[in-house]
Amino acid sequence: MAIGESHPAFEEAVAGTGERHPMGRRGAAAVVLAAALVAAALALPAAATGSPAEGLQPLSKIALHKATVDLHDSAYVRATPALLGEQGEDTEWVTVKYGWATPSVDDWIAVFSPADFISGTCPNPSRYPDEPLLCTAPIKYQYANYSANYMYWGKGSIRFQLINQRYDFSFALFTGGLEKPKLVAVSTPISFKNPKSPVYPRLAQGKSYEEMTVTWTSGYDISEAYPFVEWGMVVGGGAPTRTAAGTLTFSRGSMCGEPARTVGWREPGFIHTAFMRDLWPNKEYYYKIGHELSDGSVVWGKAYSFRAPPSPGQNSLQRIIVFGDMGKAERDGSNEFANYQPGSLNTTDRLIEDLDNYDIVFHIGDMAYANGYISQWDQFTAQVAPISAKKPYMIASGNHERDWPNSGGFFDVEDSGGECGVLAETMYYYPAENRANFWYKVDYGMFRFCVADSEHDWREGTEQYKFIEQCLSTVDRKHQPWLVFAAHRVLGYSSDSWYAAQGTFEEPEGRESLQKLWQKYRVDIAFFGHVHNYERTCPLYQSQCVTGERSRYSGTMNGTIFVVAGGGGSHLSSYTTAIPKWSIFRDHDYGFVKLTAFNQSSLLFEYKKSSDGRVYDSFTVDRDYRDVLSCVHDSCFPTTLAT
Ligand SMILES: *[C@@H]1O[C@H](CO)[C@@H](O)[C@H](O)[C@H]1NC(C)=O
Ligand SMILES: *[C@@H]1O[C@H](CO)[C@@H](O)[C@H](O)[C@H]1NC(C)=O
Ligand SMILES: *[C@@H]1O[C@H](CO)[C@@H](O)[C@H](O)[C@H]1NC(C)=O
Ligand SMILES: *[C@@H]1O[C@H](CO)[C@@H](O)[C@H](O)[C@H]1NC(C)=O
Ligand SMILES: [Fe+2]
Repeated sequence: MAIGESHPAFEEAVAGTGERHPMGRRGAAAVVLAAALVAAALALPAAATGSPAEGLQPLSKIALHKATVDLHDSAYVRATPALLGEQGEDTEWVTVKYGWATPSVDDWIAVFSPADFISGTCPNPSRYPDEPLLCTAPIKYQYANYSANYMYWGKGSIRFQLINQRYDFSFALFTGGLEKPKLVAVSTPISFKNPKSPVYPRLAQGKSYEEMTVTWTSGYDISEAYPFVEWGMVVGGGAPTRTAAGTLTFSRGSMCGEPARTVGWREPGFIHTAFMRDLWPNKEYYYKIGHELSDGSVVWGKAYSFRAPPSPGQNSLQRIIVFGDMGKAERDGSNEFANYQPGSLNTTDRLIEDLDNYDIVFHIGDMAYANGYISQWDQFTAQVAPISAKKPYMIASGNHERDWPNSGGFFDVEDSGGECGVLAETMYYYPAENRANFWYKVDYGMFRFCVADSEHDWREGTEQYKFIEQCLSTVDRKHQPWLVFAAHRVLGYSSDSWYAAQGTFEEPEGRESLQKLWQKYRVDIAFFGHVHNYERTCPLYQSQCVTGERSRYSGTMNGTIFVVAGGGGSHLSSYTTAIPKWSIFRDHDYGFVKLTAFNQSSLLFEYKKSSDGRVYDSFTVDRDYRDVLSCVHDSCFPTTLAT
């Protein structure tokens, strides 16, 4: 049997699922998916919903529509301090004390913001005919018994971490568990000193290397204050420049479905983006976001600095971080002890510790896993802000950002919880021509990244396919030898058991159209997420390893290395027991990838675990540009595709 993927059992499984069904791509995908779910249910009882190894968004477990109110004289909830962020902090710890006469093991404390969570009407009366008590999900919750001896004393104390997210907060004691919530006590509100403060800056490289963008969130609409960034060179460069920012927001009506439109909805505030232009390559710049009020005074954010990107082809040390599927988690242990994305904080913390040792980050989809609970995007931007305020934080679109039936995406699944891409497209900047189409290129010194959007059609003949070919074909490999492709879903190779259950090693039609582009344009590495683990292939051509070498690649470039780096934080996914020939290294753990280009002929690839930041897999590529341009395979001659 040929090396690589043609395993007879899998071929039969693929044939049986009707990938070429006349009802077309989406219908066929649904059949494949349905078959996969049946298979997964049989083979992997732990697997949930439409993707490998996922938990349930903790906020979705609260049966808000069943909530009732039964305030008790004996019950109380008190939160201190009453005023947060007196020194301009955007993150604070509060202590919540609570108790009552009849404690129960499933009592829980909800954190609401805005504090007034009872008034107002629910937006979808047909779904909630009885006009329930709660129309809005809390931003987080914790079981009352998290405090030791709550059951014995009938009182407890929990510390919550709050971030400034534009409104005041209140704390509520519920009994009856998450399934039959009964409100027994509410605290008085507490608030940040300035709830509208500009917060959580995120840098992103602009459409060209001389341009850095900064995006942030505030409570100031353009009618109330002028958003801007003040910036300049740390050394030299004269007086600071003030550059105005654009402002975006969106409304409940722009959400595609539930829960984003109903209980998950929360006012997103205002999202501002400013462009710092004509940067000098490698120069250090400082910047500070702010809002000029009508009286001329300024509300400032914190000051940060960044290093301007290298110019295309520039020969200097360049270090890139790549991972997917990180999610967010609560440092106070709320929302089920941070068990929705168990590796998220470790990955974030390793990257914060290592800030001096890399230059740019690619988070290739499945970012916040808010799944329609809009408040969670603030939590995510706050969690990564220590990174994104200092390094360009480039994102890709994943199923949890984009997918919703009949909303123009490629997959008719509900993984975005009704967000249908609106949040990701607004909360972060990325240098796409059209922000609704999440594909773009980034020239970073000796690298070119072609970032694709696996939630939109990528097949031959589509707009995206044209972009991918354009991106791959227009790079001058003498100057930018390191050519990288990235997308969220696995369009390349993965021996994850979830794909195997569908009889494949990729998304349906994943590489059918793209493989010839990767081969023709000699893509060095193709990165994917979506599958929550790590896997690296040999350099592949037509699913065959082109060399037996495993860690030191040199000479003629005639194969692409495929990497799944989806272990950023979300629940891990398992592999097939049989290891395909092309699979060189698999790690069922949380981690991320670091690429280091020392110069035009030397590249180091490292996979690090998020638990300890140490390297567990690596390889090097050493070669001359002629090794890329020399004639191999169909890069020079037309050939038929091997079978
Ligand atoms: C606390 O409450 C939760 C939810 O009812 C329950 O699963 C857990 O076992 C309780 N823990 C203790 C220590 O009683
Ligand atoms: C790839 O290139 C190497 C070095 O030139 C060569 O030995 C190998 O046969 C090539 N592989 C294929 C599949 O052509
Ligand atoms: C490129 O960098 C590698 C690793 O530092 C070094 O060994 C090599 O000599 C460099 N090559 C050139 C052409 O500078
Ligand atoms: C996070 O890192 C700590 C410290 O290295 C480790 O003990 C823990 O297991 C890690 N958590 C996960 C979910 O990997
Ligand atoms: Fe995903």
